[in-house]
Amino acid sequence: MRAAERVEEARRCIERAHRVAVLTGAGISAASGIPTFRGPGGLWEGVRPEELATPEAYARDPQRVWSWYAWRYRLAYQARPNRAHELLVQLERDKGDGFLLVTQNVDGLHARAGSQRLVELHGSLHRARCEACQHRFPLPPPETFMPPPRCPRCGSRARPDVVWFGELVPGRAYQRAAEAFRTAEVALVVGTSAVVEPAASLGRLARLGGAYLVEVNPEQTPLTPLAHLSLRCGAEEGLEPLIGPRAPGTA
Ligand code: APR
Repeated sequence: MRAAERVEEARRCIERAHRVAVLTGAGISAASGIPTFRGPGGLWEGVRPEELATPEAYARDPQRVWSWYAWRYRLAYQARPNRAHELLVQLERDKGDGFLLVTQNVDGLHARAGSQRLVELHGSLHRARCEACQHRFPLPPPETFMPPPRCPRCGSRARPDVVWFGELVPGRAYQRAAEAFRTAEVALVVGTSAVVEPAASLGRLARLGGAYLVEVNPEQTPLTPLAHLSLRCGAEEGLEPLIGPRAPGTA
């Protein structure tokens, strides 16, 4: 089958499906100016995740860890959702309750674009969580934010509300994500290297459940061999022909 026919086949599968699950990673926000983690120019180039994104790193040097998260918060705050985020909002409108978007991203751009059936599996740069009472609260705008923040309820120091390496993702959020992927008719996996668990397994779960699996990523990933269609391109370019509006006069 020619490439255009395979894209058309995937598009029809998506159109027909009542249950669609989507997993996104850092690559979907690349066009919004947010750096990815792995690969050239990524956040993990020249720095090991254990130095910044673990409970041990935070215990060792909370100020350094907070400075890094405050910088990323500023970037995310200033960024705008791109066409790929917007196309997923449109897909959610079409599918309603049969849709779930699961993101590993902490930049908040899916929510800002308008996605509502959304699981932010790794938390959010825009919030902090009290180290004592676990209360979650939004950070002030970056211009006035001086880390570390203090809990508005009990006054204790608060940490970034993100999931670090070595920590568990929130159980209920993962259950919801796993259920959506297990029962999906179509699963889209966009802009993730698919190497960090448990998110990496969601695509496999979907495949085991019989879903049609589509990947959009300029690079190969461990999920590529399982995908019915793997588009080697950026998220905006890949999603447009799959879920964007049809050109007038085409069926
Ligand atoms: N469109 C789509 N994909 C892209 C684009 C783009 N414009 N640019 C890069 N990519 C792809 C890369 O090829 C890569 O496979 O996005 C992927 C980004 O991979 P990672 O940097 O590993 O990001 P992610 O998969 O989200 O990482 C998972 O790892 O460090 C942790 O907690 C962090 O949530 C993160 C998790």
